[in-house]
Amino acid sequence: MAATRRRVQCLLSRVVCRRGYGAVPQGTTPSSSSQQLIDLEYQYSAHNYHPVPIVFSQAKGSSIWDPEGNKYLDFLSAYSAVNQGHCHPKIMKALQEQAERLTLSSRAFYNDKFPMFAERLTSMFGYDMVLPMNTGAEGVETALKVARKWGYEKKKIPNDEAIIVSCCGCFHGRTLAAISMSCDNEATNGFGPLLSGHLKVDFGDEAALEKIFKESGDRIAAFLFEPIQGEAGVIIPPDGYLKAVRDLCTKYNVLMIADEIQSGLARSGKMLACDWEEVRPDMVILGKALGGGVIPVSAVLADKDVMLCIRPGEHGSTFGGNPLASAVSIASLDVIKEEKLAERSAQLGEELRHQLLKIQQQFPDYIKEVRGKGLFNAVEFDSKVLSTVSAYDICLKMKERGVLAKPTHDTIVRLTPPLCISLDELQEGSKALHDVLEHDLPNMQKVKPAKASQSTTSTCNRCGRNLY
Ligand SMILES: Cc1ncc(COP(=O)(O)O)c(C=O)c1O
Repeated sequence: MAATRRRVQCLLSRVVCRRGYGAVPQGTTPSSSSQQLIDLEYQYSAHNYHPVPIVFSQAKGSSIWDPEGNKYLDFLSAYSAVNQGHCHPKIMKALQEQAERLTLSSRAFYNDKFPMFAERLTSMFGYDMVLPMNTGAEGVETALKVARKWGYEKKKIPNDEAIIVSCCGCFHGRTLAAISMSCDNEATNGFGPLLSGHLKVDFGDEAALEKIFKESGDRIAAFLFEPIQGEAGVIIPPDGYLKAVRDLCTKYNVLMIADEIQSGLARSGKMLACDWEEVRPDMVILGKALGGGVIPVSAVLADKDVMLCIRPGEHGSTFGGNPLASAVSIASLDVIKEEKLAERSAQLGEELRHQLLKIQQQFPDYIKEVRGKGLFNAVEFDSKVLSTVSAYDICLKMKERGVLAKPTHDTIVRLTPPLCISLDELQEGSKALHDVLEHDLPNMQKVKPAKASQSTTSTCNRCGRNLY
């Protein structure tokens, strides 16, 4: 164990050097205070988020500054959209140069950047074609439409009877099609009627998947899943699951669609999380870090027999494939390759989990589990111990100690820093969590009254499964 750790440290010292960003960004003089900005947003913007109260004013790499000039470490990376680090110089250069030349053609015409992006992306991931969109949710919608079309044209599913199978606990975005697959009551309640044509299966359960394929396989167009479930709390499937999914999809002629919007692009320590089992899905959905944390870019990758089921006029987006996004995406992919971000993520992830496991050993009553792959990690707290405070409260305290993390559900803190983070910064993040548990949590538990008969699991209103 000690030898393995020494080897990892040695590798890190060679691969992991701190990027040469300027120490403090220029022009941090705030025009409004953080509190004023928070109040303004609350007054004029829909209340569809519950943010940790910190205002981002400037950022570089893994550092954030608020309007008052206080510095924080980013341990969320905008839900993995900033894998390359904030305001990466190469990506900013591509943005600026392209912005001065041409930003939008619409696909009514051709532009001189999208073909380059399409070629780069497809050759990098080994697919024939790409369909470009903007947000992740649009990427998911696109994949579902392509899959349904393929189902009717190629698999000969009777009209309007195509089924998509998705996983309990999944998160694929906020559009109606995406929430129609969700088990999260907050995401679905009050938004019905939801789309029909979906079946649910437990994530990680290959036997249950085969049962569904056996029962309804002739009408199933696709199985859509996250290879690592992010919003559910960084849930990693059992070893062999991805291979089993591949085999079952092939056996029952079902498209395997991997939503790699959060898990992909080096986050899990590989370019795609599916690479951990060397599995090639029929369709891959990318988003988030594809736009380098600069502009929304998403993409669906597939081979011709699937992609060419879509013909002119059947699907599209005014901004999808725009030259600005294309230039930024090429630079974003270059940075991931050139800076070996997948390898970095794998090595730093091991180090982070090593630090977190030490914290767990120190506080075994608080921490139920530390899990992750690469720099895609979560700490799950024991719901009984955490009955008086939530993971959100822990994130508030971490923020006071200069580290920005985000809870997912009541008991899980997700730790997903930019992949350019340094070893020292990683250590700072772990220390903040450690100090919250050592110094803050006991006091927080005293101050906050226990919630009466708090239920630790809730049930999905739609499929009846126990959640979290
Ligand atoms: C796996 C997955 N799919 C889809 C989405 C939706 O992406 P967007 O918020 O860009 O629409 C997300 C966002 O968190 C995600 O994690």
